[in-house]
Amino acid sequence: MASPGSSGRCSRTPGFPAGPLGGGGRAVPAVGLGTASLRSVGEESFRGALLAALEVGYRHIDTASVYGSERVVGEAVAGAARRGVIASPEEVFVTTKVWCTQCHPDLVLPSLRESLQNLQMEYVDMYLVHWPMSVKPTKPHYPMKREDIMPMDLRGVWQAMEECHQLGLAKMIGVSNFTTKKLQELLAFAKIPPAVNQVELNPVWQQKKLMEFCKAKGIHVTAYFPLGGRHSTSTVNPVLDSDVLKEIAAAKGKSVAQISLRWIYEQGVSMVTTSTKRERLKENIDIFDWQLSDEDRLNISQIPQHKTVSVLSILCPDGVSSVELSEVDVVEV
Ligand SMILES: NC(=O)c1ccc[n+]([C@@H]2O[C@H](COP(=O)([O-])OP(=O)(O)OC[C@H]3O[C@@H](n4cnc5c(N)ncnc54)[C@H](OP(=O)(O)O)[C@@H]3O)[C@@H](O)[C@H]2O)c1
Repeated sequence: MASPGSSGRCSRTPGFPAGPLGGGGRAVPAVGLGTASLRSVGEESFRGALLAALEVGYRHIDTASVYGSERVVGEAVAGAARRGVIASPEEVFVTTKVWCTQCHPDLVLPSLRESLQNLQMEYVDMYLVHWPMSVKPTKPHYPMKREDIMPMDLRGVWQAMEECHQLGLAKMIGVSNFTTKKLQELLAFAKIPPAVNQVELNPVWQQKKLMEFCKAKGIHVTAYFPLGGRHSTSTVNPVLDSDVLKEIAAAKGKSVAQISLRWIYEQGVSMVTTSTKRERLKENIDIFDWQLSDEDRLNISQIPQHKTVSVLSILCPDGVSSVELSEVDVVEV
């Protein structure tokens, strides 16, 4: 098991070091709150979840220009600081992401400036390239038209990300949904290597190959969909309905969600998860003072693998792309 380092001030979850030493970055808190569900749960419920998360101890909030949640995140963090829930807004580790429609060398910095304006913050802790894909410039949105996909200037986009860091607007920079192949391409020219790769990862999509690669290259992995995700396309949630996880949970007196989150933590991976319910938010960070047994880990390692998210989920079903989509979304096991 990887040993987490110290987290930022007052965080109630441990953190994992990421990014180059002395680069100004902080440890990534092990559990963060995802905010992609703003539109599906409604603003009032979403605000309640944000405040509850800060009250129970979350100190990492994951947002993105495409989620439409940055303004509400900024207001919630500022409000929590005013009411003394947190000592200052800087106590919260904030991640945001540049969307495919702004994944062009001249649009990355303006997109970050707009995100910072929405967040009412001077910098973010982590700025990520959301997908290794560029789409015709327009307002961030999805699903996107396949015919609007353009060849990506990865080198130019990454240089713009490096400029965001050099200007002090992003303490760390990284990527999301990058395969080992895309990471290799990026590492060949990056002056500042990506600190983080945020990807779908949980006991039913363990990403062993990608994990080994990232470990070897010193890239910290953050998991999204640690509980199988809110927008699972089928009624069965492959994580929460897993018989292997259910059995371990029953034997340990823990919830299935906690078994999944604890397994992720033991991989040395941080995660972003969501709930609209305070009790579940608390339950999901109550994973640090117990551990899985070797037998549990062995059983989990044998769970059949199932990927939920694909680039197709952010594209319109029809239309023709001039860019090979399998290049963006390689299935690696
Ligand atoms: N980089 C990317 O491309 C990318 C893609 C997708 C997501 N993300 C990030 O990852 C975040 C997390 O995604 P997500 O929320 O869909 O995935 P998730 O955390 O795997 O799933 C959340 C779902 O699990 C339920 N839940 C939470 N705690 C539970 C518990 N203890 N027991 C049972 N059910 C529980 C929630 O329902 P209730 O609300 O009813 O509790 C919610 O429906 C997103 O918000 C976003 O920030 C990033």
